[in-house]
Amino acid sequence: DKQGLQVAIDGPASAGKSTVAKIVAQRFNYIYCDTGAMYRAITWKALQAGADLGDEATIKQLLDAITIRFEPGTPVQKVFVDDTEVTLAIRQPDVTNNVSQVSALPAIRTELTARQRQIADAGGIVMDGRDIGSTVLPHAEVKIFLVASVDERAQRRLKDNAAKGIHTPLATLKHEIEERDRKDSTRKVSPLTQAADAIRLDTTSLSIDQVADKIAEIIREKELQEK
Ligand code: CDP
Ligand code: CDP
Repeated sequence: DKQGLQVAIDGPASAGKSTVAKIVAQRFNYIYCDTGAMYRAITWKALQAGADLGDEATIKQLLDAITIRFEPGTPVQKVFVDDTEVTLAIRQPDVTNNVSQVSALPAIRTELTARQRQIADAGGIVMDGRDIGSTVLPHAEVKIFLVASVDERAQRRLKDNAAKGIHTPLATLKHEIEERDRKDSTRKVSPLTQAADAIRLDTTSLSIDQVADKIAEIIREKELQEK
């Protein structure tokens, strides 16, 4: 029997997916799964191994090194490559700026999609990414597509970076976000796209709590319908 719903949250870079998904997961006592972290982890590993980022067969073999661990009752997801925790390391700019090339490789997507479906199978999960509502969980009971203007998203990334001591100029961040969105939206296999039955939320002028409240309300309504 399913313990709770499947909630898919997709959207472009820095739209607020992970921040809001974590809050919502905690409110409903659901697992939070960040699928971007899986694509980041394989990219981190490929960079570290000095692999050619277009060499699908080689990179696919590196997937065995990656494990994801959840801390039940918390929105914490830890990522390991071999026995090294890379949860923070996979947020570095070199990973961010190369991940779209690796995530476009069909064999990598097939494998990670299978893992994501397994994680979501029991329900009670908020999963964020690019293709969750469209491909990974086409039957998710709740599908949200979060968007925000590119200027707002670059400002958000600027603040996040500043807190980590990284000082990339706003114009560079804006360019990087646009490039990543372009690559993610135009790849052949499961590109970033809004599922036909997803609810679109523009967060440009909404606070984190306002977005979380709206999504929580949508989940609550669905939960009532399912009973
Ligand atoms: O948090 P941020 O918006 O920077 O990105 P992320 O969610 O960590 O995802 C990093 C990258 O992984 C994306 O730019 C995509 O290339 C890829 N990704 C994907 O292809 N499919 C997903 N379901 C999630 C992420
Ligand atoms: O996961 P994704 O890349 O979509 O975005 P995120 O990492 O959750 O959010 C990027 C930044 O935007 C974070 O610093 C959030 O605190 C911030 N944010 C915001 O200012 N307002 C919102 N409504 C949502 C997120």
